[in-house]
Amino acid sequence: MAATIFLGVESSCDDTSIAVINNEGTILANVVSSQIKEHAPFGGVVPELASRAHLRNIPVVFQQAMDQAQIGLDDIDVVAVTHGPGLIGSLLVGVNFAKSLAFGRNLPLVPVNHIRGHIRALFLEHGDLPLPALTLIVSGGHTHLFLVETPDHFVLLAKTRDDAAGEAFDKLAKMLDLGFPGGAIVDKLAQSGDPKAFPFNMPRFSDGALDYSFSGLKTAAAHQLRRDPQRFSEPEGQAIRDLCASFQSAVVRHLLQRVRQALKVEKVASLSLGGGVACNSHLRQSFRELGDKYRLPTYITAPKLSTDNAAMIAAEGRHLFQQGITGSLDLNPEVRLNAFDEVRLLTGR
Ligand code: KG4
Ligand code: ZN
Repeated sequence: MAATIFLGVESSCDDTSIAVINNEGTILANVVSSQIKEHAPFGGVVPELASRAHLRNIPVVFQQAMDQAQIGLDDIDVVAVTHGPGLIGSLLVGVNFAKSLAFGRNLPLVPVNHIRGHIRALFLEHGDLPLPALTLIVSGGHTHLFLVETPDHFVLLAKTRDDAAGEAFDKLAKMLDLGFPGGAIVDKLAQSGDPKAFPFNMPRFSDGALDYSFSGLKTAAAHQLRRDPQRFSEPEGQAIRDLCASFQSAVVRHLLQRVRQALKVEKVASLSLGGGVACNSHLRQSFRELGDKYRLPTYITAPKLSTDNAAMIAAEGRHLFQQGITGSLDLNPEVRLNAFDEVRLLTGR
């Protein structure tokens, strides 16, 4: 029997991506076109520019993916597309592209939740993870701690009340005029900085909730800058490196603080980490150390499968399709879309 070919389409934020995987979950192509050049002058993603760039990029990215996978239109069996959460204009481009393709070729269309796609990337790369898995998904738009009980049942344990962790990195980089997107630049500069140079308090809530929060860390960094601007005037100088290292250390401490708290109440068989911020070298190392300490097998997506990509969307599409789940051609984007099946928030009380 010929392999079933799944096409994945991702356009929820500022990366246009199309991927091809087969029914065994082998990645035949995973083309990502980033829009860094478009957004860099503004120090952040400009939604209107993002949707226009998706429109320009998507036919080119599609052709590249087809060439890389060495397939033609006739070979595609199933179309999977991110329908949320994300930016409305950006989502519309991918959803309409996928709908047109499914309609024109008479193919099944599978709507995919972007965040569930980040979780599925862990399965795509590492196979069957020992479950339940405590799974941290950290990106530019989301910070979620899940208990993945089965391949289909995700319990939300904690999420951010304000900024996402990646957004906090990006805002620090903007404050320090380091460039866009900031996470990777902060990571690089932090490597030659002192993580103890600047104090950062761990976020606390008066209601005892164990949510995430990153806006206070960002404000504390802004306060250091305002207090002594002269100290930070040398581009990429030691003070900037020290602030990057101290900030990064605080973000990672806060991320892992909740993982430790979850380990006190949930019995888990593995730890896993995904999303764009999973590229962060300090987070990767600290996460592995935590896994070693608790003697838990630890899984982290490779950088290419951590940042936004369509292979994870194709993988989630394959997973849903194999259970008989498909969508219809009147699919619309959903700006807000929950990724969990159950909520069991951590609490300090
Ligand atoms: O998953 P992703 O590609 O897009 C979203 O779904 O948001 O994540 C992008 C985020 C950006 O905020 C970027 O700054 C951050 O991931 N990021 C990093 C690193 N590489 C990417 N943050 C910290 N350290 C890194 N090395
Ligand atoms: Zn993402």
